[in-house]
Amino acid sequence: MYILAPSLLGADFTLLRQQILAVEEAGAEYLHLDVMDGRFVPNISFGMPVIASIRRASELIFDVHMMVREPERYISDLGKAGADIITVHQEACAHLDWTVRQIKEAGMKAGVAINPATPVSALDCILEQADMILVMTVNPGFGGQQRILYTLDKVRELRRILDMQNIEADIEVDGGVTADNAWEFLDAGANVLAAGTSVFKGDAGKNTREFLNICKEYEKKQKSERNKCL
Ligand code: DX5
Ligand code: ZN
Repeated sequence: MYILAPSLLGADFTLLRQQILAVEEAGAEYLHLDVMDGRFVPNISFGMPVIASIRRASELIFDVHMMVREPERYISDLGKAGADIITVHQEACAHLDWTVRQIKEAGMKAGVAINPATPVSALDCILEQADMILVMTVNPGFGGQQRILYTLDKVRELRRILDMQNIEADIEVDGGVTADNAWEFLDAGANVLAAGTSVFKGDAGKNTREFLNICKEYEKKQKSERNKCL
């Protein structure tokens, strides 16, 4: 299943409700929420009060990307605020195994993210427990950057490992994802596309539909290739 996760960081914050409704009505299933602490990344974004408020305005699956040091401090509050998936950075957790368990015990799905310069092998021990692996395709902290090309190789490597080990985790890519390069990310093995600027700049509903069509086309291609093999 291929999923678009519009990243709210790319939205016009004076129009939050409208922008969320636009992507929801256009068929998006996830809403990607970037929480930044000004320590793990140089930027500060938003936190629990904003997430709790928009929870009341949306049925979307809240995909919370914690760009925060020691994110375990916020798991319970994020659950109360309405997170469905919490993704923490491997680089930000002293006890990643423990943190992933805590997220799942709190009834949410657990994702683990790696920065561009962190090798896929850093996740070897956690792959079986994670519901999602987020491969950062830019250095985290800011929207509107160009993707870093070598990160595509990491997505390919990760997909190969997950397939070999029969692990069903999702692979999310985040940063510089556009309608023009989405196909390449899917082809590399990602199945969740987080996209901020390219969804919210201009007509968010139209952009969402365009991304969803690409996902549908890609799924069709995959199915027909599978049928050829049978
Ligand atoms: C960046 C964030 C991204 C960001 C992506 O650190 O994690 O989710 O919103 O923005 P774009 O799609 O504009 O690169
Ligand atoms: Zn993100």
